[in-house]
Amino acid sequence: MSYPHQISSRAQYDIAYKTSIEHPEAFWDTVAKNFTWRKKWDKVLDWNFTEPKVTWFGGAKLNITENCLDRHLIANANTPALIWESNDTEEHHRILTYKELHFKVCQFSNVLKNNGVKKGDRVCIYMGMVPELAIAVLACARIGAVHSVIFGGFSAQSIADRLQDAHAEFIITCDGAFRGAKAIALKEVIDDALIACPFVKRTIVLTRTRQPVSMIKGRDVWWEDEVKKVETQGNPDCKAEEMDAEDPLFILYTSGSTGKPKGVVHTCAGYMVWANYTFINTFNYRPGEVFFCTADIGWITGHSYIVYGPLSAGGTSLMFEGIPTFPNAGRFWDIIDKYQVNILYTAPTAIRSLMSFGLGPLQGKSLESLRVLGTVGEPINEEAWHWYNENIGKKKCPIVDTWWQTETGGVMISNMADITPGIPSVASLPMPGILPVIMDEKGEEITTPEASGNLCIKQPWPGIIRTTYGDHERCRTTYFTAYPNLYFTGDGATRDAIGNYRITGRVDDVLNVSGHRIGTAEVENAINMHAGVIESAVVGFPHDIKGQGIYAYVIYAEGAHDHNLVRQDILQTVSRLIGAIAKPDTIQFVSGLPKTRSGKIMRRILRKIAEGETQNLGDTTTLLDPGVVEEILQGKGK
Ligand code: WTA
Repeated sequence: MSYPHQISSRAQYDIAYKTSIEHPEAFWDTVAKNFTWRKKWDKVLDWNFTEPKVTWFGGAKLNITENCLDRHLIANANTPALIWESNDTEEHHRILTYKELHFKVCQFSNVLKNNGVKKGDRVCIYMGMVPELAIAVLACARIGAVHSVIFGGFSAQSIADRLQDAHAEFIITCDGAFRGAKAIALKEVIDDALIACPFVKRTIVLTRTRQPVSMIKGRDVWWEDEVKKVETQGNPDCKAEEMDAEDPLFILYTSGSTGKPKGVVHTCAGYMVWANYTFINTFNYRPGEVFFCTADIGWITGHSYIVYGPLSAGGTSLMFEGIPTFPNAGRFWDIIDKYQVNILYTAPTAIRSLMSFGLGPLQGKSLESLRVLGTVGEPINEEAWHWYNENIGKKKCPIVDTWWQTETGGVMISNMADITPGIPSVASLPMPGILPVIMDEKGEEITTPEASGNLCIKQPWPGIIRTTYGDHERCRTTYFTAYPNLYFTGDGATRDAIGNYRITGRVDDVLNVSGHRIGTAEVENAINMHAGVIESAVVGFPHDIKGQGIYAYVIYAEGAHDHNLVRQDILQTVSRLIGAIAKPDTIQFVSGLPKTRSGKIMRRILRKIAEGETQNLGDTTTLLDPGVVEEILQGKGK
């Protein structure tokens, strides 16, 4: 069994690719017929990259949850939709069939309505990886509310910034979340955030850890109590709201090269088609298979490949609450054997971290059920690729190296399992619909087969970012002005003679730490908030496990004697303002930063020093004070 829009051979890929580029409207018209629509589209595609304005399936009406739930109730009512494995190995896992998930989503949709949530309202979701997180996401989509999931590692200040930007009046959270041996007090973080957000009308709190929480009368209610109210009202169903193709589905905040994270907006129809199409085709998913994506729903990978991709395909999505190393580094392998997982989709940083435990944790694990492996989030180094291939895939599972971004909604460049070959550390070929181009320093397209430069995309695809919430100009200037009429990815890439793309990493000031996107300006802003800090500069450096580590050069007010204490204070400040994920690995105190005569920090030099380079720092003659560099080199590691 397969899907009508599933590619089943290399020859078919070649035809699909050609048609999708030459006749995108005809191509996506055919693909979109495999979904449930309340009303069909008037026109498949309308676009310009100058405003930018992109409309996919204009005039169509739909609800994505009818595609993710209702339409599977006929043939797949009893198929597991979500398998949930808890953090605690002793606790019972939970399996929700399509029928059960549909019921729970409808029930919680009614809870949202009872609490005053309406179509178009923004709802912030800040929860651990429990099934109710997926239920909350789908319930928002069902009633037409715009969900904005915030990763559980972000601080109160980060949440407040996002709540204000989205003007979200509703929050769904948990008392706490389990992560390995820790219980994280999520509601407490929300309480701190809400001091700065008096406009929030309602917080719905799910019980998970049962730790004490403060519940404010008139604002905070318990998830369980609200569900009971719906039960007594006696109407378990909730008709899905009819949405326009281009109505917003969700906002997801992500980091860029400026200090303030931006709210990437995806819309109903295009995102749905893209998440589904890329899910089915990248992984070559076959109905009935168990798909295990280890990402958190707080990131785009979780949105597209835990929730919307697998569920729109009637697939079985495995959701894991814990961490890969708790109670031991064999956790993933146990889960794979327990549920007979067929496809594992994880991040290079997780692979490298598990690799560092050696082969011991793999003993006694079969892993025979695995058919396809995937990676995402950062370039995978060859050593990790081979380890994954040999020890996990036993050299018989294709590894799909999927390159994409929050802004792209789904996989853009990747080999396709069993269709196109995988090459270590090469993302390889574009998905149908994707026309990548490589640009040189002069801003010209490099048209020779072999090329190296900045990666742009020439045509819109259904999952492309539509706007940055509340600030369309920011969307235009960030992605569509560097190269006229092109979407600029922010990544560098090389292309080989047969058209395979290798992603070389970000070319802007965005770091990729353990697969998490963090802007250097964001970290600098946080460090600069510390009372004694005068100025700082943050760069990335290669890190064995995390891919990139964070290196901060800090000018501190005179009179700071106990530098170690100051370091701790700075780390605490960054934790408070952004979250623990943004804490620098190294802080070096300096008396000056290498600047040009016009006052620009020469990051190139700082990057080289952070990487351990002492000799070839490049041209330093344009510096205002070349002596600064020598001093920084002397002070390294002190
Ligand atoms: C990087 C995650 C190399 C890239 C889905 C991109 C990758 C950023 C790969 C987006 C890959 C993602 N190979 N680099 N297979 N996948 N990246 O928005 O730099 O969290 O721009 O989306 O991750 O990160 P984001």
